[in-house]
Amino acid sequence: MKLATHYLGLKLRNPLIVGASPFSDNTHVACQLQDAGAAAIVMRSLFEEQIDAEQRALTHHVETAAESTSEATSYFPAFEEYQLTPDRYLRQLEQLKASLTIPVIASLNGYRPGGWTDYARRFETAGADAIELNLYQLTTDPEVSGDEVEADMLETVKSVTTSVKIPVAVKLSAFHTSPAQFASSLEHAGAAGVVVFNRFYQPDFNIEELEVEPQLKLSDSSDLLLRLRWLAILSPHVRGSLGATGGVHTSEDVVKALLAGAHGVQLVSVLLKHGPRIITSLLNGLQEWMTQRGYQSVDELRGTMNLRRCPDPAAYERANYQRILQSWRV
Ligand SMILES: Cc1cc2nc3c(=O)[nH]c(=O)nc-3n(C[C@H](O)[C@H](O)[C@H](O)COP(=O)(O)O)c2cc1C
Repeated sequence: MKLATHYLGLKLRNPLIVGASPFSDNTHVACQLQDAGAAAIVMRSLFEEQIDAEQRALTHHVETAAESTSEATSYFPAFEEYQLTPDRYLRQLEQLKASLTIPVIASLNGYRPGGWTDYARRFETAGADAIELNLYQLTTDPEVSGDEVEADMLETVKSVTTSVKIPVAVKLSAFHTSPAQFASSLEHAGAAGVVVFNRFYQPDFNIEELEVEPQLKLSDSSDLLLRLRWLAILSPHVRGSLGATGGVHTSEDVVKALLAGAHGVQLVSVLLKHGPRIITSLLNGLQEWMTQRGYQSVDELRGTMNLRRCPDPAAYERANYQRILQSWRV
């Protein structure tokens, strides 16, 4: 049975990838993930704001040392709060490359064009096999249109893809008016693949203290449903690779992501809950499912439930939404 797959032009021994997270900070843990069967690892992100802050601090240091603390009022984490400084990031990338045989994908996180995208070239020089560019943004300014935000994103993607030879995947949020059109624009801008979707961390209200509480809840399998639908819709159109991230917790979830059209299936929450060895059992479950149904390879089953190939494409579309609402009686 062939579990091997291609993702962003990289040959992977199977579709399971460790998603962007703290797992890449510790080389020993990364080796355990590889030993358990992970086929690639995405590093945690280096952020646009973090790189800009470093570049500003350097400029201030050189030009106006007395003003070097002027960023203290920023809402963003202070420079030292980030787990890896840009320099440490590059060294960690080199260390992962020296210790692992699986591909290492470095992650940049930001969406406005700027000098921070130079780090793509530094990632390439440090040995990254690919880059995942996370376009996470949250526009709260009512003067800024969706078109403007997407234009900034496409320019950012272009500046990254034209500065490196390694493949660049773009990690998307689900909140685009026309994700299929935007995915195709990303490919025109040079993206080798699209990863769906960013998982938004949703602040809660504390009604005793009247405070907003930031919180990070790990996902469960229900988070996968939104991804499945859009993987299935994008799969017939995207010429490059599709990555799934969000809500993959069981071998059934892995099978579903592949049926919807994913080339790479990323794991984070499930690894935080159960540790590296869960990868082996996910792979065993995938193999068992494939054996029972006579599939010889992952390539054979990929996309068989996508919008073009599934027996009931209307299930993904507006028609079914109406049917479901009409089916309820009280
Ligand atoms: C603790 C933690 C740290 C994360 N750090 C990053 C990051 O630096 N960059 C990024 O693109 N995604 C990051 N993510 C998001 C994950 O890569 C992933 O997209 C998300 O958790 C959904 O996948 P899951 O359901 O398997 O957890 C992080 C997630 C967690 C839980």
